[in-house]
Amino acid sequence: MPRVRRLPPGPGGKLFGRTLNSNLGIAAGPLLNSKWVEGYARLGFDVLTYATVRSSFRPALALPNIRHVENREQAAVVARRPAVNGDTTIAVSLGEPSMEPDVWRKDVRRAKDRVGRGQVLIVSVIGTSHPGGDAEALIADYAQCACWAAESGADAVEVHLATPDPFVEQPQMIYENVPLAARILHRVRTTVTIPVLAKLGPFKTPRLLHDTATRLAPWANGYVLVHGISRKVLDDKGSPAFEGAGRERADVVGAQTFAVAARQIEEMLAWRKAGAWDRAILAVGGISTVERALDLLRDGADAALVATAALFDPLFAARFRQTRTAAVA
Ligand SMILES: Cc1cc2nc3c(=O)[nH]c(=O)nc-3n(C[C@H](O)[C@H](O)[C@H](O)COP(=O)(O)O)c2cc1C
Repeated sequence: MPRVRRLPPGPGGKLFGRTLNSNLGIAAGPLLNSKWVEGYARLGFDVLTYATVRSSFRPALALPNIRHVENREQAAVVARRPAVNGDTTIAVSLGEPSMEPDVWRKDVRRAKDRVGRGQVLIVSVIGTSHPGGDAEALIADYAQCACWAAESGADAVEVHLATPDPFVEQPQMIYENVPLAARILHRVRTTVTIPVLAKLGPFKTPRLLHDTATRLAPWANGYVLVHGISRKVLDDKGSPAFEGAGRERADVVGAQTFAVAARQIEEMLAWRKAGAWDRAILAVGGISTVERALDLLRDGADAALVATAALFDPLFAARFRQTRTAAVA
């Protein structure tokens, strides 16, 4: 972990009525436990999302489970050389692992103790569906995780809905099954008192984005988007890049996804402006430069969150603060 000699003060900000040092943060993923939360909090990231947790232990999928890729038209293709200078794009096939709840519940409490003033801790949760289990069991499982996260001191809970819907033949994500997504959020909303965020992926049309956001708004305090772009990932010979069944597709994230992600974020901001609902919008997806973060915040996003950039460019927040402070001075 690099050391920051003197971190410029943050430009200030607000989220859910709390005063922040800045509206820059880390999306679910890089912060695997309280040590990572503490490290990145010290590096000047102020909205800290604890990586997704479940109601039971689940190991990560076999290595390699992250590969550098180029985002081509038909598929993402493994890159010969990793991109540098803010152009890092990766495919992630981790299998949404989780620690045991007994372990993460204690560790979230530690993480909460270690975030500083002007910083917030969001905990990302996902439901686990078991063979033969129905929607009610999945909904209850999401709510159980959210309840544990809140009891452990989370300032907000993020409900991970950009994950495959286990109840349909045709592949779709839970956020694309609006009745199911609404039931999950409703249960979580009526179980915890902290703010509830919905993590969403890309929508096929602006109309779908609008209708979904409007239907979910009664049960969500905010939206976190865009999770990543589900794509086929191939090696340079055209074979699947990740070994094992069910791994042909993976989440492509990082710099080259910005154009797609930013368009969706801008659409969400436009609908909010149109007055349909008033919920927080946390921008994610390909924010690989300080300028990209600043542009989205200027356009009205309530926070700019990074995952890939946090991994490959941990001094991002220090540069963000420098630029913002210089702009204000
Ligand atoms: C290594 C890694 C692990 C991730 N794990 C999670 C996760 O546990 N839960 C989740 O909702 N998203 C996860 N994501 C997705 C990020 O939260 C984010 O939506 C995505 O990476 C897009 O942002 P980026 O372009 O800045 O990377 C992960 C991303 C990366 C790179």
